Amino acid sequence: MTGPAGQPEQHPVITIDGPSGAGKGTAAAALAEALSFHLLDSGAVYRVAALHAVRCKADLTDEASVLAALRTMHAQFKPRGLDGVDVFLSDENVSQEIRTEKAGNAASQVAVMPAVRSELLDEQRAFRQAPGLVADGRDMGTVVFPDAQLKVFLTASPEQRASRRAKQLKDKGITANIAGLVDEISERDQRDASRTHSPLIPAKDAIVIESSDLNADEVIARILEAWRQVS
Ligand code: DC
Repeated sequence: MTGPAGQPEQHPVITIDGPSGAGKGTAAAALAEALSFHLLDSGAVYRVAALHAVRCKADLTDEASVLAALRTMHAQFKPRGLDGVDVFLSDENVSQEIRTEKAGNAASQVAVMPAVRSELLDEQRAFRQAPGLVADGRDMGTVVFPDAQLKVFLTASPEQRASRRAKQLKDKGITANIAGLVDEISERDQRDASRTHSPLIPAKDAIVIESSDLNADEVIARILEAWRQVS
């Protein structure tokens, strides 16, 4: 298959980028299910990479040490419909372990390393298979799939994201102070948007959806409508 400029035509991709707590994961899994597309949870890629690095006793402050560990990683991702993906390290199911706060912190440490980001590029691009892909992350539309047919930047106010986070913590039996969470989230937004490598910013050609006053079904309907217009 070739496209208009003689370039090989790539399978379609919908990218959904945005800060954590904006509802990307739920929207991406529902869209992949609705369109029968593959699903890339790129946060899970960073999380499993960090877990593997920790298990290899890599020094998470040293890029070369993390990179050496990544070269021995055998990760697999198996779709679980609306529940996202199951993640395996070699044959061990690590889906629960990568969701812990500890794994999230380790992921954010390795995610700032340019060599780690570029090492994980092929791993992420390999998800682009027929009939298409929904990719969820921070830099899907800007760096990983810059030629995606539809790019969405999903955001919500810090207050809204803090209240969602507080609810998740409450479900785990942890009480959280909303004002403290709003401050933490605002600080992290500022840091993520201003970092040099793959900053969290909308691609120039992304549609921005502010989800503070929308429920998950409304967000999904808007993205499906935008997809119908371009596909
Ligand atoms: O979305 P998440 O919380 O599962 O992401 C885990 C970490 O990985 C988080 O610190 C942000 C980072 N990440 C990234 O830098 N780029 C991506 N495309 C996805 C996640």
